[in-house]
Amino acid sequence: MDAVEKFLKDHSLSLEEYRELLGRWQEADVREVLKSEAVKLRKKYYGDKVFTRGLIEFTNYCKNNCYYCGIRKGNHNAQRYRLTKEEILECCKQGYELGFRTFVLQGGEDPYYTDEKMADIIRSIRESYTDCAITLSIGEKSYESYRLFREAGADRYLLRHETANEEHYGKLHPPQMSLANRMKCLYELKELGYQVGAGFMVGSPGQTLDCIARDLVFLQELKPQMVGIGPFIPHHDTEFANEPAGSVDLTLFLLSVIRIMLPKVLLPATTALGTMDPRGREKGLSVGANVVMPNLSPVMNRKKYDLYDNKICTGEEAAECRGCLGRRVESVGYRLVNERGDAIQ
Ligand code: 5AD
Ligand code: FES
Repeated sequence: MDAVEKFLKDHSLSLEEYRELLGRWQEADVREVLKSEAVKLRKKYYGDKVFTRGLIEFTNYCKNNCYYCGIRKGNHNAQRYRLTKEEILECCKQGYELGFRTFVLQGGEDPYYTDEKMADIIRSIRESYTDCAITLSIGEKSYESYRLFREAGADRYLLRHETANEEHYGKLHPPQMSLANRMKCLYELKELGYQVGAGFMVGSPGQTLDCIARDLVFLQELKPQMVGIGPFIPHHDTEFANEPAGSVDLTLFLLSVIRIMLPKVLLPATTALGTMDPRGREKGLSVGANVVMPNLSPVMNRKKYDLYDNKICTGEEAAECRGCLGRRVESVGYRLVNERGDAIQ
């Protein structure tokens, strides 16, 4: 039996077999058969529903220096901003009125927001929006901090592992950062009862199909409830400014693979995918994705949360994006729902 047949039957493969599967990603028939299986599974578990998450990018200060990222500490051209608790709550209020039932607090690793400040913000959102999920995406913290945030009312945590290959991790990050710590954080978050999201960029500098095979094995072991993947897009103020962007087609292929491997996974059609292709998000939904994450941050700060060049939706109000996305989702036969959209156990 070849790797494709085995994957369709077992929904899991060894590292060697993932290498074989990935080696065939450009074969049209392989792509087609994986896509149909992925869509079949997404429909079995989620029907035609697409969940939406209101993304609140509340700080673009960051103490880290990830080489690919436009808001890394070393980029002195970045215009920095922080939202106050009141501004964050205002984003939630607007979002709630628009039908969002998950708020994602995303930011750089910004020491200004001490554990106490974060816990206070989380508690305030929790008290005002008892029927909403709170997702954090604020990087690597200690077990104690994660525990505090969980007690304050956070339900989910997004922390992409970025690459499961140690050597590749070292090409993307400064020496103070380590894959081992990233993985430790992910396992601790799981242990604390968070719904956890891992993920990686497709086509980041130095990434090979072998790296991706390792990413898939890692995801298979971790079994995260959410997986975020999108193409790498160069940012002009980074050392990767002249590197090529990742492939939209490979990203789409991987969305199908991840849907098959983790059939109940919450899988966003990411903004990066929409940035690389005007119909990228629709294409993502058509190959197995079931989540979209429009922005709720105040428009005056949008452009400053500048992870990569040409990011879409930096000039639109939350309501405009909600309407736009609703139409986009419908254009591919799905519907946007106003639900928390928790992981199915
Ligand atoms: N291109 C695409 N994605 C990026 N991210 C950061 N910088 C880039 C870039 N240049 C992704 C990382 C991070 C997430 C918040 O955004 O994977 O985890
Ligand atoms: Fe933001 Fe279309 S989703 S303008």
